[in-house]
Amino acid sequence: MPNRIKEEIGRLKKERGAIILAHSYQPGAIQDIADFVGDSLELSRIAARESAELVIFCGVKFMAETAKLLSPESTVVLAAPDADCSLAASMTSADLREMKKKHPGAEAVTYVNSTLELKAESWACCTSANSLEVVEAAPSEEVIFGPDRNLGTWVASQTDKKLHIWPGGCHAHSGADIRDLREKMADWSDAEVLVHPESPSIFLREADAVLGTGGMIRHVESSKAGRFIIGTEEGMIYRLETLFPDRQFVAAGKIICDDMGFSTPELVLKALESGVVDRGIEIPSHLAERAVEAVRRMTKIGG
Ligand code: 13P
Repeated sequence: MPNRIKEEIGRLKKERGAIILAHSYQPGAIQDIADFVGDSLELSRIAARESAELVIFCGVKFMAETAKLLSPESTVVLAAPDADCSLAASMTSADLREMKKKHPGAEAVTYVNSTLELKAESWACCTSANSLEVVEAAPSEEVIFGPDRNLGTWVASQTDKKLHIWPGGCHAHSGADIRDLREKMADWSDAEVLVHPESPSIFLREADAVLGTGGMIRHVESSKAGRFIIGTEEGMIYRLETLFPDRQFVAAGKIICDDMGFSTPELVLKALESGVVDRGIEIPSHLAERAVEAVRRMTKIGG
């Protein structure tokens, strides 16, 4: 990245009282300029805690919306305005209302990778870091879980509660090819296999640990292993290599979210230049009140 862009970003950040938040899947150049890099839960908690004047979010739409819900006084700008999430699109609020009719009495726990409309109909949101704890905390023995089928199936295998799971999925994780993982395991037989719970269950069966991205970092920190096969979006490899230069990491396969790759330093600069004026995330007031309750619950439980 040209020094001029980096310097200009630093200058405008100060001038605007801005912070840059980046998910661990973001391209390396973005991770390098971010004030905070983290998983979905960590970034939500940081947005709520910092209440910066301007938050430049480097990630996808639902993450910036969640930051805005938790920090309504901040102007929150998604650096790459077109970055969205196929998983969030895979379940509508009408789908949830149908499920509620079929399962009266079951509370809805909704993965934060979801639309505002879906959040507004939910008892609580969760991330991969606290999904099991949120389901356990729900005040009903039966729980409606969506939109991610793989995460829901994994949670169901860890709890005595009965889950009614929506069959949605992340195109990047769901499309992973088990042959790629097996090949890596044959090449790196000494490595630990860490897999994100959005992955297909056949991946989870091969894993030494099933973890969200923050959990992967904590696992590597405390592990004695020198090599790791990582079953999640490939941006995570840069994050791990930066944090642990003395360990080795390889992707379990081609798990690539194009939308996560849309952010560039140039777009961050543009957002800083224009953010206060015209690009802030707006939450319709009829959704804000109910959706904020669901995401606040999420930030208070476990993880
Ligand atoms: P984390 O909960 O680890 O941030 O995962 C986010 C995500 O979107 C996975 O695809």
